[in-house]
Order: sequence, then structure tokens, then C-alpha cells
Amino acid sequence: MCGIIGYVGAQQASPILLNGLSKLEYRGYDSAGIAVYDGQALNVKKAKGRLKNLIDITKNGSEPTGTIGIGHTRWSTHGRPSDINSHPQTSGTGNVAVVHNGIIENYMELKEFLISTGVKFISETDTEVVAHLFEYYYDGDLLSTMQKVMERVDGSYALGILCKYHPDTIIAVRKESPLIIGLGNGENFIASDVAGILNYTRDIYYIDDKEIAIVKSGSVEIFDMYSRKIEKEIFHVDWDIEAAEKGGYEHFMFKEIMEQPKAVLNAISPRIKDGRISLDISLSPDELRGFDKLYIVGCGSAYHVGMVAKYIYEDMLRIPTVVQLASEFRYSNPIIDKRTLVIVISQSGETADSLAALREAKRLGATIVSIVNVVGSSIAKESDHVLYTWAGPEIAVATTKAYSTQLACIYMFALFMADSLGKISEEEYIAFIHALLKLPEDLKTVLELKEVTQKLASYYFNAKHIFFIGRNIDYAISLEGSLKLKEISYTASEAYAAGELKHGTISLIEEGSPVVALMTTEKLFDKMLSNIKEVKARGASVIAVTLDNARDISDEVDHVIKIPYIHPMMEASLAIVPLQFFSYYVASMRGCDIDKPRNLAKSVTVE
Ligand code: G6P
Repeated sequence: MCGIIGYVGAQQASPILLNGLSKLEYRGYDSAGIAVYDGQALNVKKAKGRLKNLIDITKNGSEPTGTIGIGHTRWSTHGRPSDINSHPQTSGTGNVAVVHNGIIENYMELKEFLISTGVKFISETDTEVVAHLFEYYYDGDLLSTMQKVMERVDGSYALGILCKYHPDTIIAVRKESPLIIGLGNGENFIASDVAGILNYTRDIYYIDDKEIAIVKSGSVEIFDMYSRKIEKEIFHVDWDIEAAEKGGYEHFMFKEIMEQPKAVLNAISPRIKDGRISLDISLSPDELRGFDKLYIVGCGSAYHVGMVAKYIYEDMLRIPTVVQLASEFRYSNPIIDKRTLVIVISQSGETADSLAALREAKRLGATIVSIVNVVGSSIAKESDHVLYTWAGPEIAVATTKAYSTQLACIYMFALFMADSLGKISEEEYIAFIHALLKLPEDLKTVLELKEVTQKLASYYFNAKHIFFIGRNIDYAISLEGSLKLKEISYTASEAYAAGELKHGTISLIEEGSPVVALMTTEKLFDKMLSNIKEVKARGASVIAVTLDNARDISDEVDHVIKIPYIHPMMEASLAIVPLQFFSYYVASMRGCDIDKPRNLAKSVTVE
């Protein structure tokens, strides 16, 4: 979603802002803009469309000149993508410029109020009210002006503000939307995520909700709503910029698919010591025994990881496990109390619905364990216990390595709980550990399926509709495979529990309809074969994903993809890889913008 960058120092701001925005492009956006103070006025340049348009109108960053500025990539919520609706938004005099991530929920009411004072609005955005309000409340002091504005606005925001009356200062503030300060030597930065400033500094402050940062070239001061000064610890980012670069691959998505063996190894190996799971989670067996229900919440692919987890946890732990979309959970009046353990899964750790679900669960008394990739993110900070996935930065909008490392964490947590609760025999425990240790190598083996899947993609990339079917964990994999395909290739796709096909979806199957059938759940192999026969009888072309030790079915289907046998509960990790490749190649053959699919955002920080 939207990205924020800001710079104050001795260098020209525009090129730094443009560079920062280019590093934030992956988040998804539809327009971009900058505002730079040129010694006389706040000079705003903004353009709808790709960053390239902004680069063109700023003559490659050579104008506007000036050493302080803010920039933004916008992902439209209020008002369609247009030059005028792009940020920065300015006050009527042009003396205040604002970049904003999030949504000002009471903007209509504020707009009416401001109009009654004579203010004229030029955009359709909610953000414009902040610029006008700032000007309206301006009292000569940035901090108290900001506090007055914050008292009036409801909703979520990360804001970067420039005010002409203080041409050496950027004001940065956040509520429920991420914002960091980058600390340089004689220069400082603001950004909505680390990638934006990593070319310039690795030392950062995380800003917490309702904290106000006054950022100058030689100082950064942070205050709360009552003007009390807050001392922050410097956080040193240890991943480097190469991790966020393509490293010779054409797309981040491809690079991240290929990184999965290493990412999963990173997630697993420090957590297996002397053949036992060792998690940095301080839940005692007594505390674990106190939980009579598990809830798993997430959005998109994280939710699909939760679907896999449900099958594993109910089978292994015999504890009722509800998996729910975070956006549904928060308004569903969930039956949760202190005997509920809630697992929140999120790559970014900032997804608005997942964060709201976490808060609601906490309010109801649940204990929260989160599985998160981005260190220091809001979900990680607000959870009782965190399992970091350690996948490294994931840039492509469609998740791959974060999904795989989330699964790895799900397995390890299952084993940790089963062991603590005495729900697993030593033999089963050892077999599971053995499979976990083998997983990175097996992932390398399935990466070799890329040529096979590329060929399959060449047969089917023009299909109007592609179906995915499976049962049990294979159903959960089908959902993720189907989501990947629609996200990046814009192919209409549906995932169905295979047994449910005949209750409706089978009516869509016609001559040549491609059906991807997941058959990695050994105990349901024959049931799946029956479902395959049902769709074959209606003319479908079937691509089956089976285990390499499974019965040969090449006469019954059109194509077979074989993956190694690893463990009945862990096949999702291997089966998803050919589906990731398949989506990638279909999208590539259809000429899609693979890393930045239309209308999608990497981190969805608004509801
Ligand atoms: C967006 C992304 C998806 C992701 C979902 C949840 O929709 O495009 O790939 O699965 O958000 O994101 P999270 O950061 O919470 O895992």
C-alpha cells in the first residue's frame, strides 16, 4: 500500500526521495509525488501512474531543488488515481504539505467543518483535511499544532508533514500505520518501511502510536500527546540492501521462490537443538494445558497457512481449532476467553484487519502467539509471544517464501505443543523432527520442477478459468495455488474441496477446462481419483500433483507432477512450489506485471 519517505539534510532532497520511493514501489501504488522546500516555497510535483512519470516531470530529480522534502506513493482509497488526488496534499496557502498512509475516518465531518470556515477543497482525498486542519490550528509551534490536529482526526495514519514556517523540520506521526525514522550523519529520514532508507542508513527508531517526531538534519526528538519527551532505542537493521534487490533474477517473485530452501532453513535450524524443538516462547506445559480452543487468524495467504494448520492441530493436538479471516473475525463476536490461544499469522505484521483481530482477541482475554516476518512490526509488538519467520525481506506482492516459512513455524509450534501436552509419541516426534530437518533439501528438489511447470503453463496460459481441487490439507494448498494464479496472472480461478464439486462447481467444467488436482494426502488418494474421474468425464484436462511414491495414474490424467514424500502433515510445503511456478509462468506468458499486480498491495494497512 501507500509508501512514505522524507529527507532533511545537506544533500538535494529530490533524488533521495525518488530513490526511496523506488524502493517502496513493491508495496503497490497508482500515483506518486514529492514536496520540497526550495528556500521560498513548498514545491510540489506529483503524477498519476508509475514512478517513471514523476521522475520525468522532476527531470530525473534535478528539480525541485532544496534539502528538505517528503514523498509518497499512493494506493487509492478515497478518490480515484489522478494527479490531483496524489500526495502530497497541501493547505489552501500551499504552506503545509502532507503525505499520508491510512484512512481518516471522520474526514467528511472535518471537511464540512473546514468548508464552513471558508476552506476550499481541490481533491477527493481524505488526506487533504489534514493539510487544512494543520494550517487552521497552526499556533507557531509544530508540536502543539500537531497535537491539536491529532485530537480532531479519527482513523489510521502515518503522516509526514512539511510546514513552510519551519523550513528545517519534518513532522512525523503515526497511529495504526507503520512509520520509522532513519538516523544519518547530519541528515535524517522518515519512511513507512525500512526498504525506503536502507541505501542511506541502517539505524532507525520505530515510532509508536500517537508519538510525534520532530525531525531536523541534526536532531530527532520524539514526544507523546502530552509533550513529554520519549527516549527511543536505536534499532540496527541487519539485512542489507542486496536482500531487497533482484540479484540477477527478472522478478522478485522468482527470486523469492528460489530462496525458499534457505529461508525455511533459517526458520528451522536455530530452533532444533539436540533433536528437540526449542522455541523462544515462554508458555509452560501448565499454561498450554489451560487452553481449550485455538483460533487462527490472518488474511490472504496467511489465512491459507491457517487452513493447513487447522488440519494439523486438530489431528495432532485434538484441540478444536477455528481458522478465520481476520476481516471476518473482528466483527463476528468470536467466542473467546482466557482459555483461548489465538495465533495471528502475518508476513508484514501490519495488516490492519489482522492487527484489529489481535486487539479484539486480547481484549477478550486470549493469549496471542503471532507468526510474523517483519521484526518490530505492530503485530509482533502487541503479541504475547512471537515466532519470527526470518524469511528476510519479501518484496513481490504475491507471497512465496513468507508462506513457506509461516508453514515451517506452524509445524514447529504444533510439535512444541504436542510435546508439552504429551500428545505425541517419541517415535512420531522423531519422525516429525527428521522431516523438518529434511524439508530444506526437499524444497531444493521441488525447485527443479520449474521447467515442467513452465511447459504446463505454455499449454494453459490462455485458459479463461482454472480450477484447483483437493481434500484436507490438499484443499488448503488448492486455495493458495488458486490465489497465486489470480493475484498475478488475472486468470479467473476457483479452489474447491474436491468432495464439494458435485454440489455446484462441476457445472462449470466443460471440454478442456484445466483442473489442478492435489493428491498428496495419502489416505484420500482414491477419493481424489474418483473426483478426477468426475471432471474427466466432463472433458476436463487434469494436472495431478502426487507423491513420488504414489500409484501411477498417468493413464487417468493429462499431466502428473511428482513431489517427494516427506511427512503426511508437511506435504503442503512441497506441493505449493510447482503451483507458485505455474502461476509465475502463466503470468509471464500473459505479459503481466508479476511483482506489482494491478490493484494489489503488499501490506494492506487499511481496513
Ligand atoms: C495482501 C498481500 C497477500 C498477503 C495478505 C496478508 O493481500 O497481497 O499476499 O497474504 O495481504 O498480508 P500479511 O502481511 O498480513 O501476511
